[in-house]
Amino acid sequence: MKKVLIGLAVAGMVVSGASAGEDVAQEVEKLAKEYGCSGCHAVDKVVAGPPFRVIAKEYKDQPNAKETLVKSILGGSMMKWQGKAKKYNIKIKMAYMPAQHGVDKEKAEKIVDLILKLDTK
Ligand code: HEC
Repeated sequence: MKKVLIGLAVAGMVVSGASAGEDVAQEVEKLAKEYGCSGCHAVDKVVAGPPFRVIAKEYKDQPNAKETLVKSILGGSMMKWQGKAKKYNIKIKMAYMPAQHGVDKEKAEKIVDLILKLDTK
């Protein structure tokens, strides 16, 4: 009986909040691959640009986070992360992101929504 209860508790954790964050991370990785971002970004490690989870941490509480990030993706971003990288103790290998012509506004918004949902605790 005890084993069954433990099994149920574990199953419950997987179904509830415990896995929600990971689902978002997987979805972000999938879209990043599809949209051509993964050459420079991953969720948790520096490739050339900042990890998406660190971007989430930086922008999560900013009122214009979504607009700002969508604009950066569509128009490019330069030198913004040199100072921030120090703050998060990471090393960004490129000083700018070229405008991402492979994505339109709708796609950029979709991936930004997900990035901002990443668990940053
Ligand atoms: C050629 C490499 C490269 C590619 C491809 C790339 N990025 Fe970036 N990205 C960077 C770099 C470098 C930075 C940091 C720019 C800076 O310091 O301003 C960055 C920054 C960002 C930021 C933060 C912008 C800000 O305003 O702070 C977001 C969001 C982002 N990238 C999303 C994406 C998405 C989504 C894609 C795919 C559609 C993508 N990137 C493709 C290199 C890249």
